[in-house]
Amino acid sequence: MATALITGSARGIGAAIALRLAKDGYDIALNDISEAMFENNDIMDKIRAEGVQCEKFICDVSNYSQVEETVKAVKAKFGTIDVLVNNAGITRDGLMARMSEEQYDMVVAVNQKSVFNMSKFVGNVMMRQKSGRIINLASVAGLYGNPGQMNYSATKAAIIGMTKTVAKELGSRGITCNAVAPGFIKTPMTDKLTDAQRDAMLAQIAMKRYGEVEEIAGVVSFLASKDASYVTGQVIEISGGLMM
Ligand code: NAI
Repeated sequence: MATALITGSARGIGAAIALRLAKDGYDIALNDISEAMFENNDIMDKIRAEGVQCEKFICDVSNYSQVEETVKAVKAKFGTIDVLVNNAGITRDGLMARMSEEQYDMVVAVNQKSVFNMSKFVGNVMMRQKSGRIINLASVAGLYGNPGQMNYSATKAAIIGMTKTVAKELGSRGITCNAVAPGFIKTPMTDKLTDAQRDAMLAQIAMKRYGEVEEIAGVVSFLASKDASYVTGQVIEISGGLMM
């Protein structure tokens, strides 16, 4: 049985990806920052109901040594790591003029350094396997910028560069690395936006609706599948036609 590790998967897009990959037949290694994220949460039950194994691995993905230990633990539990989805991410929004150093550094650590940490240690496992799929969560903010998100859009643009670099470094080992760039998707992260911000987004979306988490999970499932075996270093925008 193949195994998928999804970071930040207690809720939101990560949980939807984990459930979709479970339906595709993968054993699932969930991750989130604390045990509390899994309290009053039925994601593990839902995944196990698909007939696959599921375990949670608590770690802060911005912490290099915690990630190293976590990857060892996932490998020890499941034997292989076939799919890595770098999904964990945060926002600490504010206009540049008022953004603090702490706000900037925190988002870089969680959204960007995490991708280095995880890709390095899981990539080492995949290189020995001579196969693997790495899928990174970028954002339209990384492609086009977004006022109030200098920190966040910097990390999401960086993830696109990291995706292409990993694709080039690991391609000869049978490992692909791609990114998805979601637009406005209904999750606890976007619940924080004001009505005015939401209306402004909607006006620009060709499909005149927000995306659902399952619509991100479906594209991730494709990128993890055999059908995507010759797709690498690509960024797939999933935004209902936000910019064209
Ligand atoms: P969310 O806030 O609902 O879920 C993020 C998960 O990551 C949470 O469970 C959180 O506890 C976990 N997490 C945060 N810091 C962590 C850390 N240091 N270590 C481990 N886990 C950590 O967010 P959502 O909306 O599901 O976003 C998932 C990904 O999709 C993020 O990378 C986000 O930037 C990206 N994205 C989301 C969009 C949206 O409209 N919701 C649009 C574009 C990209």
